[in-house]
Amino acid sequence: MDGGGKMLTIALPKGRLGNKVYGMLASVGYDCPEFYEENRKLIFENTEKNVRYLLVKPGDVAIYVEHHAADIGIVGKDIILETNPDVYELMDLKIGKCRMAVAASEGYMEDPDRTLRVATKYVNVAKEYFSEQNRDIELIKLSGSIELAPILGMSDVIVDIVETGSTLKENHLVVTTEFRQISSRLIANKSSFKFQNEMIREMMEKLEGVIQ
Ligand code: PRP
Repeated sequence: MDGGGKMLTIALPKGRLGNKVYGMLASVGYDCPEFYEENRKLIFENTEKNVRYLLVKPGDVAIYVEHHAADIGIVGKDIILETNPDVYELMDLKIGKCRMAVAASEGYMEDPDRTLRVATKYVNVAKEYFSEQNRDIELIKLSGSIELAPILGMSDVIVDIVETGSTLKENHLVVTTEFRQISSRLIANKSSFKFQNEMIREMMEKLEGVIQ
């Protein structure tokens, strides 16, 4: 429904994925032309369409949605698995596809008798994966450039997302195991899903038509 009623606030991940997601939403009518203007604004509104976008760090999308600062958001399954937010996961948008993987330096040989040193920003995902494997690990939490850890001998392996594989390749690392397919999900605040159900459902129906 255009105009009237409460505005729908959408948390978008800044960067590459955010641009894709915005393109997808704009293509089904939820555009905010200001989005493409060169500026540092973090909020974009389309009062006629009754939508508002918040540009946030990818890892923070679910926090805005859980705390009801946004009604809905688009977030990678990797972040959902890591943070387990109290939100509804409504749809797989089938974009931002990648894999969660364990990787090590080329030629690395694991010593099963030693605690495995794992560098990652996905500590919960890594903990769960290695506990399923009954493997003792020491976790080293990093926030980016994870690939450096095995190069410098700070860790034996890394757990990270792999999309094209070029970051690993350029740093002479190889995937040893891929254990989870990742893609972007539409999530909703639980109360928004109840009270703004009509608007959210309308958007979901339109998105259905463009998901590949
Ligand atoms: C992710 C990930 C890898 C890279 C993988 O980092 O941590 O470094 O993408 O992509 P590829 O397989 O296509 O090379 P991201 O770009 O999200 O940045 P970050 O290091 O800041 O997390």
